[in-house]
Amino acid sequence: THPAIVVYGSINIDMIVEAAHLPRPGETVLGNDFRMSCGGKGANQAVAAAKAGADVAFIGRIGQDGFGGRALESLSKVGIDTSRIGIDPTSHTGVALISVAPSGENQITVSSGANAFLSKTDIRRSAPALAQARIALAQLEIPLSAVCEAAMLAAENGIPFILNPAPAFALPRDLLELTSFITPNESECEILTGIRPDSKSALGKAAEQLMAQGVKGVLITLGKRGTYFATAERHLLIEAFPVQARDTTGAGDTFNGAFAVALADGLAPEEAIRFANAAAALSVTRTGTHDAAPLRSEIQSHLAKASPQTA
Ligand code: RIB
Ligand code: NA
Repeated sequence: THPAIVVYGSINIDMIVEAAHLPRPGETVLGNDFRMSCGGKGANQAVAAAKAGADVAFIGRIGQDGFGGRALESLSKVGIDTSRIGIDPTSHTGVALISVAPSGENQITVSSGANAFLSKTDIRRSAPALAQARIALAQLEIPLSAVCEAAMLAAENGIPFILNPAPAFALPRDLLELTSFITPNESECEILTGIRPDSKSALGKAAEQLMAQGVKGVLITLGKRGTYFATAERHLLIEAFPVQARDTTGAGDTFNGAFAVALADGLAPEEAIRFANAAAALSVTRTGTHDAAPLRSEIQSHLAKASPQTA
């Protein structure tokens, strides 16, 4: 059987418009294509993990509306267990307004809706799924109280807890102490530590600071520069796979989902990061989030044929 993962997180419906440039404050930009698809960092990570070969249970909340139904469909299509997704009669399914520039860069505004009401009780209900799981994974588009409860539950079950601190804000020490791996990107790293990770020494300091607050492993994702990985024993930069970016939306989510799968498979963290770097590289060459996440076979053949860029 496949390794099992529990993902705690958000589900949004993404409304995506590609435009010649991202709008500045007060500016109206006429864009091109419009696409609507299921997103949300939690759902994206769950889908990436399922496509990378894991049995995934998702814990989250949607509204009692058409968007919610659409989101559920998108998750069950890839085999995710959606039986613990709550339907909230009093709020709407999360929505994300996304603009994408030709460079592949994006700008995202989220209205959380039902995601904001995921409760500790919802989290506790995941206990049976977690008891079967090898890894728990969460992000910060759900209430912090829910994330902390998930971290606690993972600890009670003796399984690693991966925290993708997106979107970032200052985090309580008790959460960091329960975090096995934290996976900020550069801007999230700066928000969490006050250190802009623009050099090797700054990356090192930022990672040390997070570890001093109790995190066991730090992965700072650097886009095309790869992933900086630090534990108490060592620090290293794991190179990215060079690709032509088309749409970076959800690349971080694909990275996290794939990393969780590889760890659940029993790979060492460095190897799991290589697997996740390959998955993220493939995802930025494709538009969208769920559709962009690669299948396990695609990740494996990419790993086999592409050797990572050397510094
Ligand atoms: O990380 C990308 C995701 O962020 C989008 O799918 C959007 O829903 C927002 O949550
Ligand atoms: Na993409």
